[in-house]
Amino acid sequence: MAFTVNDFKVKKESGEKITMLTAYDFSMAKMLDQAGVDTLLVGDSLGMVILGYDNTLCVTMEEMLHHTRAVTRGAKNAFVIGDMPYLSYHISPEETVRNAGRFVKEAGAQAVKLEGGAEMVPHIEALIRAKIPVVGHIGMTPQSYNMLGGFKVQGKTYQQAEQLMKDAKALEEAGVCAMVLECVPDKLAKHITERITVPTIGIGAGKDCDGQVLVYHDILGLYQEIKPKFVKVYANLGELIEVAVKQYVEEVKLGLFPNEEHTFKIHDDIIKRLY
Ligand code: KIV
Repeated sequence: MAFTVNDFKVKKESGEKITMLTAYDFSMAKMLDQAGVDTLLVGDSLGMVILGYDNTLCVTMEEMLHHTRAVTRGAKNAFVIGDMPYLSYHISPEETVRNAGRFVKEAGAQAVKLEGGAEMVPHIEALIRAKIPVVGHIGMTPQSYNMLGGFKVQGKTYQQAEQLMKDAKALEEAGVCAMVLECVPDKLAKHITERITVPTIGIGAGKDCDGQVLVYHDILGLYQEIKPKFVKVYANLGELIEVAVKQYVEEVKLGLFPNEEHTFKIHDDIIKRLY
């Protein structure tokens, strides 16, 4: 059954965990969807894992829309969330709506995600007035990389923890359908999760969040540049790919591939008539 925006609340209330993975293309979206993932996030992490940048700051709206379109073509039941790239939602609520609207209208996304706490409330409210469901994102917010001084765990001091609690409450009141908590100590994530009515989706935020999200390249061993502590590698496809590609290269060089099975045929008479 297709996951809808209402299922976030239903699952929070029933205690059933929500599953989310990133997706960036048609084939992978189709596989993740068929494997039963509830929600697919077309994360701006694509800047790092697909495009090879050092961080997510230079990802553009056009890149995000291009990949979101591919994902929505592959997802049948999963709820697709488009991640708003840096500077597409910071300038004004009007510009935020215009850009978020493109995710829905041009790429078929069912919601957008944006990073930030209480300061984002006017933007979130404008999106909801425009009938666009919003997923919040607080804690370690990669688009604040330069302000945070790197990818660091957030909420470890009393002041930071109190600010995160206020941000979570502000996002809840603004009407988000869910919020990502990234790199937050587990007890703080549990505290926040128990005090808000919208589901928390953790990434490096412990087991007590209402759901979990990870970048699929990380769980499948496809991205070796950074290995965060919170990632569990479920399969090492990177190694399998290397073995398979080495075998392909060897077989081509030795003339073993293609063989009869992989070859199209033509009647010899036709060849003979050619000059
Ligand atoms: O861009 C992304 O993939 C994300 C998730 C890791 C939460 O924001």
